[in-house]
Amino acid sequence: MAIFFSMFIPTTIFLFSLFVFSFASDSISPIQSIGDGAGTLVSREGRFELGFFSPGNTMNRYLGIWYKNIPVITVVWVANRCNPINDSSGVLMLNSTGNVMLLYQNTSVVWSTGLVGQAEKPILQLLDSGNLVLREEKDANSETYLWQSFDYPSDTLIPGIKLGWDLKKGLNRHLTAWKNTDDPCPGDLSYELEPYAYPEVYIRKGTKKYYRSGPWNGLGFAGSQQLRSNSSDGINFVNNDEEVYYTYYVTDKSVTSRLFLNPATSTRQRLTWSEEERSWSILSSAPTDYCGNYGLCGANGNCVITDKPICQCLKGFKPKSQEKWSSMEWSDGCVRDKPPSCQGKDMDGFVKFEHLKPPDTTHTWVNKSMNLKECRAKCLSNCSCTAYSNFNISGEGSGCVIWFGDLIDIRQVQANEQDLYVRTPTSELAKSNLKVRAAIGAVIAGVVLVSLLVGFYICRRASKEKTERNLVLSPKVGGGKEDLELPLVNLSTITSATQNFSIDNKLGEGGFGPVYRGRLKDGQEIAVKRLSRISGQGVDEFKNEVILIAKLQHRNLVKILGCCIKGEEKMLIYEYMPNKSLDFFIFDHKKRELLEWPTRFKIINGIARGLLYLHQDSRLRIIHRDLKASNILLDFEMNPKISDFGLARTVGGDDQLEGKTKRVIGTYGYMAPEYAFNGRFSIKSDVFSFGILVLEILSGIKSRGFHQENQGLTLIGHAWNLMKEGRAFELVDACLRDSHQNLQEVLRCIHIGLLCVQQCPADRPNMSSVVVMLSSEQTNLPEPKPPGYFMETNSPEGDHCMRNAESSSTNKLTITVLKAR
Ligand SMILES: *[C@@H]1O[C@H](CO)[C@@H](O)[C@H](O)[C@H]1NC(C)=O
Ligand SMILES: *[C@@H]1O[C@H](CO)[C@@H](O)[C@H](O)[C@H]1NC(C)=O
Ligand SMILES: *[C@@H]1O[C@H](CO)[C@@H](O)[C@H](O)[C@H]1NC(C)=O
Ligand SMILES: *[C@@H]1O[C@H](CO)[C@@H](O)[C@H](O)[C@H]1NC(C)=O
Ligand SMILES: *[C@@H]1O[C@H](CO)[C@@H](O)[C@H](O)[C@H]1NC(C)=O
Ligand SMILES: *[C@@H]1O[C@H](CO)[C@@H](O)[C@H](O)[C@H]1NC(C)=O
Ligand SMILES: *[C@@H]1O[C@H](CO)[C@@H](O)[C@H](O)[C@H]1NC(C)=O
Repeated sequence: MAIFFSMFIPTTIFLFSLFVFSFASDSISPIQSIGDGAGTLVSREGRFELGFFSPGNTMNRYLGIWYKNIPVITVVWVANRCNPINDSSGVLMLNSTGNVMLLYQNTSVVWSTGLVGQAEKPILQLLDSGNLVLREEKDANSETYLWQSFDYPSDTLIPGIKLGWDLKKGLNRHLTAWKNTDDPCPGDLSYELEPYAYPEVYIRKGTKKYYRSGPWNGLGFAGSQQLRSNSSDGINFVNNDEEVYYTYYVTDKSVTSRLFLNPATSTRQRLTWSEEERSWSILSSAPTDYCGNYGLCGANGNCVITDKPICQCLKGFKPKSQEKWSSMEWSDGCVRDKPPSCQGKDMDGFVKFEHLKPPDTTHTWVNKSMNLKECRAKCLSNCSCTAYSNFNISGEGSGCVIWFGDLIDIRQVQANEQDLYVRTPTSELAKSNLKVRAAIGAVIAGVVLVSLLVGFYICRRASKEKTERNLVLSPKVGGGKEDLELPLVNLSTITSATQNFSIDNKLGEGGFGPVYRGRLKDGQEIAVKRLSRISGQGVDEFKNEVILIAKLQHRNLVKILGCCIKGEEKMLIYEYMPNKSLDFFIFDHKKRELLEWPTRFKIINGIARGLLYLHQDSRLRIIHRDLKASNILLDFEMNPKISDFGLARTVGGDDQLEGKTKRVIGTYGYMAPEYAFNGRFSIKSDVFSFGILVLEILSGIKSRGFHQENQGLTLIGHAWNLMKEGRAFELVDACLRDSHQNLQEVLRCIHIGLLCVQQCPADRPNMSSVVVMLSSEQTNLPEPKPPGYFMETNSPEGDHCMRNAESSSTNKLTITVLKAR
């Protein structure tokens, strides 16, 4: 029977041999063992299970612990994280002296607990807390466990694990994220408590600090809104000579919750299982926003997420380099306007700051019994002391903590009630009060400016609404058989509407000819696309295309109002889009600021829905083939509308979702590699162009030509590098970084964008998955592979997913590259 379960079946989800053999016990003793496919341990109440599994897409076998009562298999602990077993020969056993070993092929040890001392009658037991413990059979006391998995957590913190230090044993319990969903070996992301005088928790990337929780101030971690004690769940923080750690607990036993270090998003997520939705939902995550980026504003800088720019020098400080600071390079931080004198008792004072995340506590000193007054005196007495605060703000407030040197990683947090007193020369104290008043003045001026802009916008909008009237055009085209709803318009009507195609009315140049703005006699505004004579389309093809477009109706596709055929002239009449096209905004250094994150997100979603309609939902299945920023038009509410179907192709049913052409036409920077090099287009080549669009919308960077200024690195390569280094924020358009509050949404969009630009069409999601990914808070997006088109020099030879039979025709292709409008 075991042979059955030694077969590996690769799936995209975790695959387990969920197989309870002869015993469903919660423990083993030295004469028993657990083999791969032969038994698991199940905790007494059935909450957790231990056994062998294969993560992600691999066939490697690991020993791990997961929730037994949750249908989405979620591994919370792995034994042989970096030593997978490549067949089903794994056996977990315990020898009579209490050494637990995971054996491979009966001989090599791939993992063991190590020698834990002499045991008389050891047993290995899986507890309902999820803790795997080795203990004497007689002795169930947790203090005397010989070994426990809770001392060696993987990437998940569940209630009961002490995150932090046993100072006597030198044991540092910390989390390390998996490398990726396929590989539980520790990647470079870790979550670790630092036993400084004033302890705090860090997320690190490699050795670099990446996020800081802020110190435990008696009520919560001072820098985080979420990790606070609460009636339903909470945190126990212990800090004494022997131990510094925190644990978290959930009072309601029916709630399943965990803390997880997610390598794909580089965040620490707090998740809870929702029985209704049968999925994990994110309660909170850190960092939550751009200010969560460790030390973003440099020394003595304060990050205020609602301000523009987000970095401000603390009162009494000025930018070290004004020039860099003005160009939003904050890493040099701020220096004192005037250094503290350090002489005489009355020469220095303190400025009180409220609602701050206290600075990095690496260089701090603490006395838990001093009061604030003594604390102040202590700080004044030492010239290198720069700030002080209460150690514990619970109740009246108690204890003293003082900081030495630069104040690092400060930000505004409404939730923290801890006051910070920063040392300032007395002569500066008076001045800084004046500055506050000046700042208030500036804020008032800002408010006035904003109201003016809003007023302007409302006027514009009102005037637009007045022109929304029905267009009546006749007669209808139609050859009898095809009853087409599309009106045919007289050439003279269009000539007069566009003032004889006056250059003043020209909106731009599309793939097949110029586009003009026009106004009909009744006031209705229209856009007229005049197909150029050399476009090569015959009347039949033109009509065919018109019919195709006329049948499409979706709020995210531009609406065609009519057409005009007269001799050589062929024209399409569309609804007029007052806000022109997307490229007009995102690539313009002034206008981009009008597109805040919610609008950009709306645009991304709208394009995705429009494209999904083309690919799947319309009666015809259509590949657009020329999706780009200039083909995304914006209506007066900034709703996106896909336009320009000049290159669109219909494809048959499910069996024919791909086409091939010898005439590759499209726009460089947006074309999928298999299309650009081999002329193969499919719905997945549209998905690629969509991915590029997403990256452009997020970054405000043009894909086309990016490589020319970046040593051949493409926008995709740039985005990939930043994401890999966990600096995905930096891809985001600078004018968004200040204001966006929804970091998760932004990061998810970057992630989705990268998935869409994968080299192999098969690796790209289809638009229905994209729409789902965009709208859900789904945590486990697939990990993107290194993208194609990483460097501009990447050649089709490097394209491993092309079938060789077809690549020979490459040199016969004509590549026609059209200019962006
Ligand atoms: C499995 O791993 C062992 C030891 O690392 C190696 O000798 C063996 O060739 C591997 N087998 C396969 C099928 O990869
Ligand atoms: C148990 O395993 C350890 C490590 O391999 C070994 O040192 C010890 O002698 C073993 N005990 C017995 C009784 O075999
Ligand atoms: C594994 O080792 C045990 C004891 O050393 C031996 O009895 C058994 O035959 C071995 N099994 C295999 C498959 O080598
Ligand atoms: C903080 O002060 C409160 C009330 O005085 C006390 O109960 C608590 O133990 C203190 N916490 C720490 C970490 O010192
Ligand atoms: C306490 O928990 C509830 C429910 O989990 C949550 O809605 C609330 O925001 C929490 N309060 C604090 C202060 O964290
Ligand atoms: C802490 O402060 C108290 C009260 O001022 C004092 O008695 C005690 O000696 C101080 N402890 C240390 C280690 O400085
Ligand atoms: C000031 O504090 C620093 C850091 O703790 C210490 O090294 C130095 O000796 C102190 N100086 C005085 C005068 O207490």
